[in-house]
Amino acid sequence: MTDSAALDPLAVYIHWPYCARICPYCDFNVYKRKDDTALLPAILADLAHWRELTGPRRVTSIHFGGGTPSLMSPDQVATVIDTIKTLWIADTPEIAPEIALEANPHEMNADDWRGYRAAGLTRMSLGIQSFHDPALTFLGRDHNGATAQAALDLALEIFPSVSADLIFGWAGQTQAMLTDDLQRILNAGTQHISTYQLTIEDGTAFAKAETRGQTRAVDADHSADLYDLVRDTLINAGFEHYEVSNFAKPNHRSRHNLAYWQGLDYVGVGPGAHGRVTKDNQRAATIAHLTPTAYARAVTNIGNGIESREALTPSGWASEYLLMGLRIDAGISLARYTDLSGTILNTDELTALMKDGFLHLSGDILRATPDGRLVLNAVTERLLLT
Ligand SMILES: C[S@@+](CC[C@H](N)C(=O)[O-])C[C@H]1O[C@@H](n2cnc3c(N)ncnc32)[C@H](O)[C@@H]1O
Ligand code: SF4
Repeated sequence: MTDSAALDPLAVYIHWPYCARICPYCDFNVYKRKDDTALLPAILADLAHWRELTGPRRVTSIHFGGGTPSLMSPDQVATVIDTIKTLWIADTPEIAPEIALEANPHEMNADDWRGYRAAGLTRMSLGIQSFHDPALTFLGRDHNGATAQAALDLALEIFPSVSADLIFGWAGQTQAMLTDDLQRILNAGTQHISTYQLTIEDGTAFAKAETRGQTRAVDADHSADLYDLVRDTLINAGFEHYEVSNFAKPNHRSRHNLAYWQGLDYVGVGPGAHGRVTKDNQRAATIAHLTPTAYARAVTNIGNGIESREALTPSGWASEYLLMGLRIDAGISLARYTDLSGTILNTDELTALMKDGFLHLSGDILRATPDGRLVLNAVTERLLLT
């Protein structure tokens, strides 16, 4: 019998790329919903190939992301979970994995959601975004505030852990509107909140409208104040600010996202999914074929959906460890950084950044302070200067 606790941990990401409609700000790998009978079998076959890549592991989390995986039926979700359980160690009581799925309020369906729970889901992540109807219309969402509230209440009734996504910083948003959104999420008893500042991504409908001078979607002037408001409100309500954009009640952190931030291995199946696998002290980064058609075709033709597979260099691996690890409150180990890269961080920059209050060193552990997390890209750029 395998000693499951001794096996290396593994997170599994499944990308379901379809959405009922495409939001004007979104640049994820998404496609308008269609009947696609080839995608699920392709994902199942790709998982089997990933088992060959990783060898035996214990699965610590399974995450259905998108797109809109709540467009999957409970049977489809159950089939994926059961397949993962047959391929890796994933269902001993001591190491029961976190199993999460991202859902849109508009597709709320009590029978389906109870079906997900019966299939093993422990966590639902809901794309609330806001409860304000004009904001939701502006953001191109297909739900309104009442639907968002009903979906949140239903999710909390069914799942042991519920996370709500909130977008802030849209033009016209006042502090009072943001406080109201936060209070409604808190009053419902939500255990985890992801707060994203609205960003204008290249190629999106918002970016095109801005180029034409038609709309100003983001209120950049107020965004820093709004971020402070989010932080203060949630910390006062007993949440831990454990990652730049993420807040959790104790024991409700996203185990799956922590795997990314801590530099653990993860399977990435489904169109455009990214993966990381470490073997014999070599770490490889994979990206799956982007479109559902190309992905399913590749699985049929060669048995897996991976389009690119690149061995990370020691400095590439170490930089990724730094960039991801400084996002979380646990920070990074300097010894581990040196171990991976064979070098040390820029000492002058490190000293200056600590003196300016952006970083904090405690023994071997380097952390970004709250101020440092606000400007993390600039901080990490300076640390990596050679
Ligand atoms: C991939 S979406 C999945 C959730 C689900 N499809 C939904 O939209 O409700 C994950 C989250 O990313 C956030 N997001 C996507 N694009 C964004 C942008 N340009 N600015 C800020 N947040 C964004 C949204 O809050 C969204 O809920
Ligand atoms: S924000 Fe969510 S629902 Fe909207 S297009 Fe992106 S993935 Fe789809």
